[in-house]
Amino acid sequence: MDISVRTSPAESARGGAAERLSAMAHDDMRRVDALILERMGSPVPLIPKLARYLVEAGGKRIRPLITLAAARMLDYDGDAHLKLAAAVEFIHTATLLHDDVVDESDLRRGRRSANVVWGNAPSVLVGDFLFARAFMLMVDAGSLDALHVLSRAASIIAEGEVRQLAAKGDPDIGVEAYMTIIGAKTAALFAAAAEVPAIVAGRGREEAEALETYGRELGLAFQLVDDMLDYGGLSDKLGKSVGDDFREGKVTLPVALAVRNADADERAFWERVIRTREQRDGDFDHALALIRRHGALEATLEKAREHARAAQHALSIFPGNTWRESLSDLAGFVVDRAY
Ligand code: IPE
Ligand code: IPE
Ligand code: MG
Ligand code: MG
Repeated sequence: MDISVRTSPAESARGGAAERLSAMAHDDMRRVDALILERMGSPVPLIPKLARYLVEAGGKRIRPLITLAAARMLDYDGDAHLKLAAAVEFIHTATLLHDDVVDESDLRRGRRSANVVWGNAPSVLVGDFLFARAFMLMVDAGSLDALHVLSRAASIIAEGEVRQLAAKGDPDIGVEAYMTIIGAKTAALFAAAAEVPAIVAGRGREEAEALETYGRELGLAFQLVDDMLDYGGLSDKLGKSVGDDFREGKVTLPVALAVRNADADERAFWERVIRTREQRDGDFDHALALIRRHGALEATLEKAREHARAAQHALSIFPGNTWRESLSDLAGFVVDRAY
């Protein structure tokens, strides 16, 4: 079976996997987009205005793509997957609105974030509205089991965000706690997005669990790369500001690894910038130099590769078809986007 994570910087199809999958799922995705626009409607003008601002800025649509592709891989012939894919993107969009308030971020999808344009209160409230609409979509999809999986994911995301908030400013958070946080705040939704097609397609536990594993591992790889890019990436390419995690005192894997290997001077530096959050000009560059000295970006990426491989491995119980290959390629893409 041809299952391999592409990691070469010279890979010509960089980003191509997501584009190819988008092209394959084009018709389904158009219907999902139409559903998203329809369901964000409200007679309260600020709601569609703010929501459209974020939705029309794009976004990679990775999570709904997973739902659509998995449904196709399973030969599902109903249309509940469209509502579930839209619900997944609604949940994601709601969490982004809330997250940018919590993180005091100013850039999202290449635009000034909604909290900067309209303020915190409208962002939180419209985020709540989108969450509520996600639940209505899930009910409309007509599967209590799918509703269970996705609503559980929504509560786990919130737990992850709160866990992360509580851990803020602790340079010694460690790898395990970090993985628990990203498992909750990011991987739980990827896992649910991948699992629900198996449920509506009436597949058994083994297939549902394999897809759940695929989504979870992919989500972990995705967040690891995202956290690496907050130190090693370019704001223009990401559409969000780099260095936010550092400024916030949020310890992600690159820092956790650098702290673990720090000498006395380095430890004093991390205590000052992360715990005390007394940050001066040049501190971010110094942090980056320490992270690089300890090989922490490459180690983060290697961990992402491992999880991407585990995602691909989880697909091996399914018969090979183009949709399975595209899901497998997507795991390569989340790592490739690091280059
Ligand atoms: C951003 O997710 C939040 C994280 C989990 C890092 P995406 O990078 O998928 O955001 P969009 O939807 O493409 O903007
Ligand atoms: C994204 O988390 C929000 C959730 C996964 C709920 P981050 O704060 O790490 O991601 P960005 O960098 O803002 O997209
Ligand atoms: Mg954030
Ligand atoms: Mg955050």
